[in-house]
Amino acid sequence: MTQSLTIARPDDWHLHLRDGAMLQAVLPETARHFQRAIIMPNLVPPVVTGAQAKAYKDRIMAALPDGMSFDPLMVLYLTEDTDPEDVAAAHASGLVKAVKLYPAGATTNSASGVKDFDKVRPVLDKMAEIGLNLCIHGEVTNHEVDIFDREAVFIETVLDPIRKANPDLKVVMEHITTKDGVDYAKSNEKNLSATITTHHLIINRNHILAGGIKPHYYCLPVAKRENHRLALVEAATSGDKRFFLGTDSAPHVDPAKESGCGCAGCFTATNTMALLAHVFEEEGALDKLEGFASLNGPAHYGLPVNQDKITLVKSDKPTVFPAKIESGDGPVTVFDPGYPVYWDVK
Ligand code: DOR
Ligand code: ZN
Repeated sequence: MTQSLTIARPDDWHLHLRDGAMLQAVLPETARHFQRAIIMPNLVPPVVTGAQAKAYKDRIMAALPDGMSFDPLMVLYLTEDTDPEDVAAAHASGLVKAVKLYPAGATTNSASGVKDFDKVRPVLDKMAEIGLNLCIHGEVTNHEVDIFDREAVFIETVLDPIRKANPDLKVVMEHITTKDGVDYAKSNEKNLSATITTHHLIINRNHILAGGIKPHYYCLPVAKRENHRLALVEAATSGDKRFFLGTDSAPHVDPAKESGCGCAGCFTATNTMALLAHVFEEEGALDKLEGFASLNGPAHYGLPVNQDKITLVKSDKPTVFPAKIESGDGPVTVFDPGYPVYWDVK
């Protein structure tokens, strides 16, 4: 028996497209199903200025295959030297939809991120004034803090003070991985939302570490205990408008993942919508998938919902996803949920 679900075309509110040969390989994987995506600026060197964002957007559009339609929503990488006027101009021109705060050293290519949060206060004040969104990688980088506690400690010691100092600033807590993150997002009435990745709805830390180390499940923030995964699933499937999809699909070539010091990132662009249909169906919440993937994000960003639709279809045979996609830089492993999935996008 076939079952199908038609929803407004989804958007990805947190995506890594990289550059060059990797961009060429991964962009169609997202553009096939998604209309828009918030494009992470952690290139080397990072996308800091409006001019750099414009040049990166041009490279993305040049890499888009003929016949595909896709709108990259550009993001500036916040540094302690970011000029508030450059940010305001990039926003006023319509180019930039968010600024990204990486605590220095938190993750891949975050060395130019923020060490002293007081130094970025003028930029945050300007953003609050003009209504520009701040996307936050919410982990402290302090080596004394256990990696599994870094999100909760960040919320208490960095995020809450930033928001108290600047209640008008619009914030997205990105890729939350804990019940603490869910509870904090829920405790706030306005100007705060959270994205959740596909993989954090599926794996907990056992999937990474038990029965042999699985480098393709390693990402940052690292997946936590099962009770946290369950809190994320509850939030995503609840219909609460403060939660929406940001895949954090983050391609690295296999040798960089399968290494003595493997890179963080799960590549989920190819099968995200099918996996989400599986997760939402398991929760009896297929009717909430459109909100999570297609409605709540535009509402937070003040953007229209996409007019196009996509249809998800469930069949009685497991869907065969490619195990890898090839890039000019090498193969990239597609996230494997570890169980059969019967959904696919038509
Ligand atoms: O797992 C991750 N990979 N988390 C991040 O925050 C960065 C990303 C990347 O760029 O590879
Ligand atoms: Zn990311």
